[in-house]
Amino acid sequence: MSLRTITCIEDLRHVARRKVPRAFFDYAEAGSYSQQTLRANREDLERIKLRQRVLVDVSRRELTTTIIGDPAHLPLALAPVGLLGMQHGDGEILACRAAQAAGIPFTLSTMSICSIEDVAKAVGKPFWFQLYVMRDRGFMRALIERAGAAKCSALVLTVDLQVLGQRHCDIRNGMTVPPEIRLANIIDIASKPSWAVSILRGKRKTFGNLAGHVRGMENVTSLAQWTNSQFDPTLSWKDVDWIRGLWPGKLILKGILDVEDAKTAAKTGASALVVSNHGGRQLDGAPSSISALPKIAEAVGSEIELMFDGGVRTGQDALRALALGARSCMIGRAYVYGLGAFGEEGVAKAIDLLARELDVAMALTGTRSVRELDRRIISQ
Ligand SMILES: Cc1cc2nc3c(=O)[nH]c(=O)nc-3n(C[C@H](O)[C@H](O)[C@H](O)COP(=O)(O)O)c2cc1C
Repeated sequence: MSLRTITCIEDLRHVARRKVPRAFFDYAEAGSYSQQTLRANREDLERIKLRQRVLVDVSRRELTTTIIGDPAHLPLALAPVGLLGMQHGDGEILACRAAQAAGIPFTLSTMSICSIEDVAKAVGKPFWFQLYVMRDRGFMRALIERAGAAKCSALVLTVDLQVLGQRHCDIRNGMTVPPEIRLANIIDIASKPSWAVSILRGKRKTFGNLAGHVRGMENVTSLAQWTNSQFDPTLSWKDVDWIRGLWPGKLILKGILDVEDAKTAAKTGASALVVSNHGGRQLDGAPSSISALPKIAEAVGSEIELMFDGGVRTGQDALRALALGARSCMIGRAYVYGLGAFGEEGVAKAIDLLARELDVAMALTGTRSVRELDRRIISQ
């Protein structure tokens, strides 16, 4: 399948599955444990029916909006995704370029392959940086300062990963960074030559934000172990204040699923919160993000800007979330598939597909602007 004949995100997923080694494709695809929440994210979105409205003049449609006060061409942002540089060499840089060309924010993960500085040097505009809080607070402070020095325009603090939910396939596949030299991996990689070339040409083969900044961690495998043992289970609302003190810029809290937590988050002075269950990768058995969104919107929607993520694979999905109270959606796997399939062009394609689908769905629900979306377009 060539880029020209790609019609939907599912097509990109098929191509990515052929091109990306199993361990990294599965890493992107998986949810935690029995994957109930992963499935619920999609099933609950698909259950929401849209009202078909006719004979409304929709000749002018407006997809532009603002996200945390900054203009955006679409109500979309690229979610932070670890190890993008293992889906395609220099994956973080390519995804960031595609997002910036489309006029939407890109979020660089703490667990990226290209470092903050690598991406800042390679792209023209500011991007967002996502922070995982680790036990080493000195390192945290340094990381926040590096994001500031790189002129990142927002800090996205992920709050739903104090401990890591297990994804079975990562264990079965022996998923390590860089890939472990096992016979099955060698055979698999040998059948993915374009991937291998892109990775060899890429700037880095390990966690760019951590390597060289963590003493005694020159050896890559121990770096991965260090990372797993470093996520901080003591993280609390007090730390959010601590981070606010270190980061004068815009702050986004990512990974809120509960109304009580949303009420507390709304009082932190953050610019937005992301209603999210980490794409079904953390608490298996948690509700879908879309089922949590209306309650959170009702409780705090007038106090704090809401972003949404979890299961968005079509523009219709984005429309559903916008109608139920989100101002914008983060997309995760949808663009990861594009990256694995066709690099930067694939990410651009993923964004374009979602934008076109959203545009048509808006027209057919009688909507002229993404900013006027509300529950009236949901079929009861
Ligand atoms: C492969 C993968 C890696 C991820 N890595 C991170 C990460 O490093 N930091 C983070 O805050 N969220 C991470 N997430 C969660 C995403 O930011 C986002 O919440 C999720 O992908 C949204 O669901 P979707 O993939 O169904 O769109 C990751 C998700 C995936 C699929």
